[in-house]
Parts: sequence; structure tokens; C-alpha cells
Amino acid sequence: MSVERTLCIIKPDAVEKKKAGAILALLEEAGFSILACKRVQLTRPVAEGFYAVHRARPFFGELVDFMIRSPVFLVVLERENAVMHYRKVMGATDPAKADANTIRKLYGTSVGENAVHGSDSLENARIEIAYFFAANKVAPVAS
Ligand code: CMP
Repeated sequence: MSVERTLCIIKPDAVEKKKAGAILALLEEAGFSILACKRVQLTRPVAEGFYAVHRARPFFGELVDFMIRSPVFLVVLERENAVMHYRKVMGATDPAKADANTIRKLYGTSVGENAVHGSDSLENARIEIAYFFAANKVAPVAS
């Protein structure tokens, strides 16, 4: 196993409920280092670009409307096996199907408003991190 980075987005529903701090604390407890973190109001073109792979899906419009409803936190995480480990800690897309004590079970309310996003592969993690963070804005090493 190797040290990897992945992208977490704390979505508008969780930020509105003031759960960003609780989610960051849970991630640190799970062994992740927070290499970068910023609170951002996404614009429609930026959200559409980020989710371009879902453009043909029936829920695309709803997804983009939700993601630009209010600010998100963009978070770069690092640890061993970060991509897969974060997906476990995050839980299933639908909070109703997520395991106990996962972020989506604890803080999500529906498949659309599911508290957090996570990269689904190492390659997509690199693409997604680069979409939001210039390389010189991410801490070079975990501490
Ligand atoms: P995320 O991990 O951010 O990646 C794509 C998102 O699309 C996903 O989380 C869900 O929040 C959202 N999504 C997936 N299926 C649906 C759906 N049926 N209705 C609304 N949103 C959905």
C-alpha cells in the first residue's frame, strides 16, 4: 500500500448544518492528514465541469443546483490507501444504505444531499485535486 491523496468535498447540506468541523475531526480520527482545505462558493460552470461525467444523467441539473446552493469545503486528504479508505469512511452514496458511523450515515439525508463527495479512483483523485488546487497550494508532505 502506498500513501495517496484524495479529494473530499463537504457539500452544502453539511456546511449549512454546521457539520464541516465534525466531518474534518472524523477524518483526522480516521488517520487522514488534511493537506489543504478551503471554503468556496462554487459557480455553475465550475460545478458543471467538475461533474461533467454525469452530464447525461437525469439528476445532473438537480446535482449542480444543489452544489451551488451555498458554500462547500474542498479538502485534500492524505494517508495510506487514501482513496479506498476514504470511500469506506464516507459510506454508500445513499445515506439509507450506508454503514453505521460513516459520514453519509451520520450527516447525509438523501442520495442527492449526502454530505460529502469522494474521488472514486486514484486517477480521478489526481484530476479532481488539480481541478480545484494549484500544486503549490497543497502541503508537500503530511505532518
Ligand atoms: P458524489 O459522490 O458527489 O458524485 C455524484 C453525485 O451524484 C453523488 O455523490 C450523488 O450525490 C449524486 N446522485 C447520484 N444519484 C443521484 C440521484 N438519483 N439523484 C440525485 N443525485 C444523485
